Amino acid sequence: MNDYYNEFMTIDEAAEKYGKTKSNINYLIQYKRLTHIKNTKKGKLLNKAELEEYFNKLKSERIEIKNQFKGMNEELAFFDLPERERTKHVHRLHPYLGKYIPQLVEYYLKKNFTPGQTILDPFIGSGTTLVESNIFGVNSIGVDISEFNCIISKAKTQKYNLHKVEFELLDILKKVKSFFINNQKTLLDFISSDRTDQDKKEFSVIDSDYLNTWFAKSTIEEISLYRSLIPQYEYQDLLKVVLSRTARSSRLTLHFELTRPTHPVREPYYCHKHKGKICVPVQTSLPHLRRYTKDTIKRLKEFDKLRTGKEVTIIRGDSTNIRLEDEIGFYPEINGIITSPPYVGVIDYHDQHKYAYEIYHLEWNDDKEIGPAKKGSSKLAQKEYQNLIIKVLKNYKKYLKDHSKVFFVANDKHNLYPEIIEKSGYTLLHEDIRPVTRKASRERAVYSESIFEFTPD
Ligand SMILES: C[S@@+](CC[C@H](N)C(=O)[O-])C[C@H]1O[C@@H](n2cnc3c(N)ncnc32)[C@H](O)[C@@H]1O
Repeated sequence: MNDYYNEFMTIDEAAEKYGKTKSNINYLIQYKRLTHIKNTKKGKLLNKAELEEYFNKLKSERIEIKNQFKGMNEELAFFDLPERERTKHVHRLHPYLGKYIPQLVEYYLKKNFTPGQTILDPFIGSGTTLVESNIFGVNSIGVDISEFNCIISKAKTQKYNLHKVEFELLDILKKVKSFFINNQKTLLDFISSDRTDQDKKEFSVIDSDYLNTWFAKSTIEEISLYRSLIPQYEYQDLLKVVLSRTARSSRLTLHFELTRPTHPVREPYYCHKHKGKICVPVQTSLPHLRRYTKDTIKRLKEFDKLRTGKEVTIIRGDSTNIRLEDEIGFYPEINGIITSPPYVGVIDYHDQHKYAYEIYHLEWNDDKEIGPAKKGSSKLAQKEYQNLIIKVLKNYKKYLKDHSKVFFVANDKHNLYPEIIEKSGYTLLHEDIRPVTRKASRERAVYSESIFEFTPD
């Protein structure tokens, strides 16, 4: 053991020496970034030389990345912000492609608004603006065309009885687990056996080509039972989000393609994410279900300590023509907008959560999405995009109070916004350019994003 200590150190010691948490170090081991490990009775020991080399390399990469920030607003890079802060409490209740970081919203709220005012987000997405607005103490109204995005945002911002949340989440989990683990029966057997008509109506195995392609049969049964039980509970949006997050992680996809899966996999495969490991496609969703249930309870408790009593209003609709007064029953007066709009030809917002649309039979409104990836980014697509965003800005102008401020966060690589702002009847006040670092498929990339600050004429 003593010899080991010249060459090796414990996980605790490594975490202390390199300013990391134990789980950071465990993550590096799990994902084979560190490989010279000795398993001893007293736990894992890590090779000192390998650790030193790993963290030195990381340091020089960080210096190289920071050198690329020149000419941009470094304060808005949030480069040293740990991942857990970017995804704190409810912000990580469900994965979502196209989310912006909460600290950016917090920054613009604090600089430009005062508690008690009202903020609008015409493109809610996963609800980042609404969550941060509530914490800051402003009322918020949000609109999104995607029904599932509204469900995620409602689940994040609803005021809960936390005891009831815990009871409901654990109760439904227990029912699903005990059905499959104790009964050793398939859901289909259960439904086809001597059941009442009412049971047969309540419990059904989801029949969907998409699910049959992307999920193992056993997983579809588990998802189907959970979904069938949801109507028995009060916090249905929350349960839908837990199940959808579980379903997303349980697709027959390569571990390194979870964000944009290309094809279903049914055989073991060599995994780039878990360097050198052979991974097996998911056959049961139950471990994910258990993990996300616990994680959701924890995250809601954390948010509950920060949230205020301010109103959060979520509307499913098309921002190009929605009439807010018809939806909320009065004519709102808005002090500002903070949003990250869809950009031209980048993401298909309905499609990224197709599993959720199939599981819950949600309304598919992708033809009303602005700038979807499937329409590309040709000159024609850019023009159409500009016209639609102009429509949105004109539509909301009537609700904006004098001197209100609008913040649009966009990676405007086609330079579409100066013209949009002018043609919508607004004046550009300022443009912040912030560096964005992203772990793009196994390599780090830096790009910039603009925050356009403008005001109605
Ligand atoms: C970049 S995302 C917003 C992300 C959000 N800021 C977040 O952090 O999660 C853009 C959103 O605009 C929505 N969207 C696209 N076209 C729309 C339309 N015509 N009306 C309302 N929402 C629309 C998409 O569904 C998507 O959720």
